Amino acid sequence: MNLVLLGPPGVGKGTQANHLAKEFDFKLISTGDILRNQVQKNTTLGLKAKKFVKIGKLVPDNIILDIIVTHTKNNHPYIFDGFPRTVKQAMGLEHTTKKRGLSLDAVIYLYCNENVIIERLSKRRVCPLCGKIYNLITNPPKNGNKCDLCNESLKQREDDREEIIKNRLKIYQRQTMPLLEFYEQKRILHKIDGSKPEKQVYETIRDVILKERSD
Ligand code: AP5
Repeated sequence: MNLVLLGPPGVGKGTQANHLAKEFDFKLISTGDILRNQVQKNTTLGLKAKKFVKIGKLVPDNIILDIIVTHTKNNHPYIFDGFPRTVKQAMGLEHTTKKRGLSLDAVIYLYCNENVIIERLSKRRVCPLCGKIYNLITNPPKNGNKCDLCNESLKQREDDREEIIKNRLKIYQRQTMPLLEFYEQKRILHKIDGSKPEKQVYETIRDVILKERSD
């Protein structure tokens, strides 16, 4: 089965996607992680994407859809984190999956209010080596500012500054929210309260997946 995690910045998509990928053996496709990696390596794609990511604007659809085509060549079950983000991207995903005789089985929409999001993102820290996501309040590292897994110094994302977070939220409202109706009409949208504790959110998503699998 193939799954999309949809929702505003900071709602917990990356956190949940990483756990789900491990338990259910999904191949995780996070367009945000792919773009940040390319930016860090100064590749052609990274140089094109940098100016958008830095200010919290969406990278153009054609660039994102090329990334998806490149990263979904095998018949693996996929979990998409942060993709699609526009109706055009959703139509592109539909086209790609149909061409390979596959389908998108469930879209998990995590929702949460803006104050919680701003608080979470300003306290988020990420390991630049393994990508593990922390939160200084709700999920702090055990040893100061070091990653529990690889002992690397944790970093704050450049786009986690308050004015950029507010811009990302505005763009989310304008460009990504229309996807709710798009997927509601296809009857594959599942709405889950992302403000609940991490474990509880995980259990709820897990139930949806197990039910979808048994149908
Ligand atoms: P991307 O990396 O996708 O960022 P985002 O969607 O803004 O989402 P985040 O990664 O900020 O948050 P999240 O929901 O994954 O939350 P997390 O689990 O980390 O995109 C970045 C940029 O790349 C975009 O702005 C754009 O420029 C570009 N881009 C990417 N994809 C694109 C696309 N498809 N099209 C065009 N452009 C694209 O959790 C956040 C914090 O909360 C953490 O500290 C975590 O520990 C904590 N937390 C998580 N869950 C809980 C919980 N239940 N309770 C308490 N704390 C929690």
